[in-house]
Amino acid sequence: MIVDIHTHILPGVDDGAADYSEALEMARMAVADGTTHLFATPHHRDCTPLTRTEVADRVAKLQDKLDKANIPLTVIPGHEVRLYNDMLDDWAKELAGPLGNSRYVLAEPLFHHYDKHTNAMLFELFDRGYIPIMAHPERILPIQKDLSLIEPFLERGGLTQITSGSIFSSKDRLAHQTAQTMLRNGMAHIIASDAHKPYRRRPILTKAGQAAARIVGSMQAEAMISTNPAAIVQNKLISTPKIAV
Ligand SMILES: [Fe+2]
Repeated sequence: MIVDIHTHILPGVDDGAADYSEALEMARMAVADGTTHLFATPHHRDCTPLTRTEVADRVAKLQDKLDKANIPLTVIPGHEVRLYNDMLDDWAKELAGPLGNSRYVLAEPLFHHYDKHTNAMLFELFDRGYIPIMAHPERILPIQKDLSLIEPFLERGGLTQITSGSIFSSKDRLAHQTAQTMLRNGMAHIIASDAHKPYRRRPILTKAGQAAARIVGSMQAEAMISTNPAAIVQNKLISTPKIAV
């Protein structure tokens, strides 16, 4: 069971799939790579704002098209929750929410700013009984400069999602280096594609899994693309290795 917890496969809502044709092409690619389950996580800001119910409705429509096209992929609704000042107001309006009906939240820091308010929002999610998963910390500039910024989050039991392209490609040098450091130091828990298009940030996980295995070993790499994200589908607890910054 390979599970991708971060994709922009829902057509026409953000900078991901433009239409059903692109969404189905992405789904076929994911299935060809072995993916069985995939979360649709539209940006909750900078896009068409969708409530949890609206995301679920659109996911049901997409699932129907996948089933009719005989593409064996289960799509689950979610949000990529941006950690900006009014996030909790949006949460109250259900414009942001967890992955499926689980305790896990895919939470994206701002790309150029990370401060105590960022941690405060993450800690508020913990206080409400959720477990935040930080989306692609290796791509966030302040974290690239100082990994210790996320130590309080990790010590509280937070998880991280590394984007597959950051692991197998060195095109974005800083993201690549930060991803490798996080893998070496046990600060990485899940690999996801953050797929946007069939031709850009594609829904492929195994290539990154193989690259990660060279750093963390095959068992940990397997946990990152399969065991850990599968636990999210089942809303089970994920056990994390100790961090060593
Ligand atoms: Fe994303």
